[in-house]
Amino acid sequence: MNELEHPTSEPYGSKEGKDLVSGITIFPMEPHVPRKSDIDPKAARRAERQVATMFATSSLMIILFVVAYVKIPNTTLITIPVIGTVNANHLATGFAFGMAILLIGIGAIHWAKKLMPDVEVTQERHALTSREEERQEVASSFQRGKAESGFAERKIIRRSLLGALALFPVPLIVLLRDLGPLPGTRLRETIWEKGMHLVTDATYRKIKASDVPLGGLINAVPENLLEIEHEEENLNQRGKASIIVVRMDPADIVSQQGENWDYQGILAFSKICTHLGCPTSLYQQRSHHLLCPCHQSTFDLSDSGNVVFGPAARRMPQLAITVDSEGYLIAQSGFDQPVGPSFWERG
Ligand code: FES
Repeated sequence: MNELEHPTSEPYGSKEGKDLVSGITIFPMEPHVPRKSDIDPKAARRAERQVATMFATSSLMIILFVVAYVKIPNTTLITIPVIGTVNANHLATGFAFGMAILLIGIGAIHWAKKLMPDVEVTQERHALTSREEERQEVASSFQRGKAESGFAERKIIRRSLLGALALFPVPLIVLLRDLGPLPGTRLRETIWEKGMHLVTDATYRKIKASDVPLGGLINAVPENLLEIEHEEENLNQRGKASIIVVRMDPADIVSQQGENWDYQGILAFSKICTHLGCPTSLYQQRSHHLLCPCHQSTFDLSDSGNVVFGPAARRMPQLAITVDSEGYLIAQSGFDQPVGPSFWERG
């Protein structure tokens, strides 16, 4: 042990004070409470036997592993309730080896907790900064290396090296091209447009205003989603255009994002959380709160979809709706703002 390390079994200081070297405030330790095994030899022997038993059982498990591996044919199947049919050889060897490891681990922890010293120790350390002479030595060694390398005198090498280093990141920048074409307006627009029917997201059935019960919620998509046959594009558009339709007492509506954007208390909102884009549909009909399951952002659908809790920074975009001549719900227009999370160009 060198002179700078002074482990001690004494608590470091009996009252609060400052360490003279580091200036860190030192708090006194709790008084040490001896364990039963520290003061009672019988308890210590009992703990010793327990640890030894675990280690010995671990040895037996290893023997069991070898026996099972050799004796149980690899083709033997057994049926265990709940689990089903399993390979007996795999089960026995896996169990034996797992138990062997587990018992060594538990035994070691038990040994450390019951029998090894548990007295708190402190270790003083010297300041981490180097001594002044060492720092000067490093600085002069750097200068010597610089002079010997000829970096200052050999201009042609220096300039060509700097040029090479300056160009080094270029391939990384060029590779950014592989991220694909710029999204253009794709992040801003959905396929919703004026007069588009709202259809259920699973069966594509047109939704009549009278189909939406008071306090109910329906997951919906625009009917023209059916026309997009390309699977990936269909999924992309569905991801952006999915909405939820809820109905509440018109008297409960405190505010909306536009005038008369509801139809007799039926409101449509984007389903995509404005935090990180999780689909939301946990709706509490009494409070009119919509909860995102990912990070618990909560939106008040009776008050313009404003955020009332959680990390989302934007309210949930509302889709203006009305009905056609047959009473089916249709969009008054597309969304008037991008749906989903923030992105770099979103104002
Ligand atoms: S994605 Fe909805 S709260 Fe985070």
